[in-house]
Amino acid sequence: MGRGISLRCPSCGESPASRTVFHCVRCKRILEVNVEVARLTRADLRTMRDSRDHTIWRWFECFPVEDRGSIVSLGEGSTPLIHAARLGERLHIPNLYLKNDTVLPTGSLKDRSNSVGLSVGKELGFTTAAVMSTGNAAASVAAYSAAAGLKSVVLVPKGTASSKIIQARAYGATVIVVDGDFDYEVARLYKAAVQEFGWYDCLSSNPYRDEGKKSYAYEFVDQLDGRIPDWVIHPTAGGTGIYAMWKGFKEFLSLGWIERAPKLVAAQSEAAAPIVAAFEKGLADIEPVIARETVAESIQVGNPVSLGWRALAALRESGGTAVALSDEEILEAQFLTGSLAGIFAEPAAATSIAAARKLRERGVIGRDDLVVCNLTGHGLKQPEAIRFSEKEFAPIAPTLEALREQIRRA
Ligand SMILES: Cc1ncc(COP(=O)(O)O)c(C=O)c1O
Ligand SMILES: [Zn+2]
Repeated sequence: MGRGISLRCPSCGESPASRTVFHCVRCKRILEVNVEVARLTRADLRTMRDSRDHTIWRWFECFPVEDRGSIVSLGEGSTPLIHAARLGERLHIPNLYLKNDTVLPTGSLKDRSNSVGLSVGKELGFTTAAVMSTGNAAASVAAYSAAAGLKSVVLVPKGTASSKIIQARAYGATVIVVDGDFDYEVARLYKAAVQEFGWYDCLSSNPYRDEGKKSYAYEFVDQLDGRIPDWVIHPTAGGTGIYAMWKGFKEFLSLGWIERAPKLVAAQSEAAAPIVAAFEKGLADIEPVIARETVAESIQVGNPVSLGWRALAALRESGGTAVALSDEEILEAQFLTGSLAGIFAEPAAATSIAAARKLRERGVIGRDDLVVCNLTGHGLKQPEAIRFSEKEFAPIAPTLEALREQIRRA
């Protein structure tokens, strides 16, 4: 491959003959993509930082796409990194920064992955992209497929609320509702269908797709102008974000472009926290759990089989940790983020804020530490999570007197 892009099994080192094979034939592990970055120089870094292209594609040299002509972009990347002074004051973390990924094109971090994923899919000549998802991934795959000129198919289990799949449908996806449960029956059918129809698989088992989230690391280095966060906290489901961010930082370390990397933190819901459990038990791989109901719907994953083990390794190598949060803690964090920082994050995304708060209370995060919380999905993705009483929105008489009374009560 011309640009030094290769696939390799991270366990046994086996390399496949084709770019369309995603699993190691020997040990079934998901293959890892390596992009040869060693020849990049400081001048290249300067060029990338100075580029007028503010999408993730200004870091083109770090992504596994052969030809710039294959790029599928909706303007993703360079999302605001905001110093959240008021929220930081409340959490006793004056150097708190929020990476606002709620403003990505389809409203979640999945756009970082799918911009890269669909660019490769297009380059490899696929005509249909597929995913099984009830939320953010479905919307993102559908949007990037539309932009790439690929058809998209989304598999969801029976009972999925139409509000969850409407966004994908709006981007032209064919949504197929399956009479079966998500983790086993839908998953089994999905796997068989990808084989049968030759669809481009856009799950996190697609190693190209996973590379997209390396852009977090690059953007932090750029936006903090060389300062390195002490902590980066990421809402975690499959583990892609943790694993890919760490990979991005390691690339920059290996090039000598940074001197140290942050400690990474995985924030999970207590109801689905296999990475936290494995981290605390000192395990090298996750033990799957049955995910319980949680308000953090987008990260309700009990079996992050693809990348869980690599995320664990990244947490440990970085000197970071993993934290589980209750629904109450998550909803409170969501409210604080909205009311003190002006960002409406979905509950799953607010786990990073809840985790920062908890780690600060425990004294793990120090007062002067520079902390970045990734806000990975927009609150409008799940408006029903906001709890309010009927009374709160009960109409008042159109008089100043009634208004005065209402304001007084509020
Ligand atoms: C809003 C949101 N945050 C975070 C994640 C984290 O995913 P990962 O652990 O794969 O980075 C997801 C995806 O599942 C998500 O939808
Ligand atoms: Zn292998």
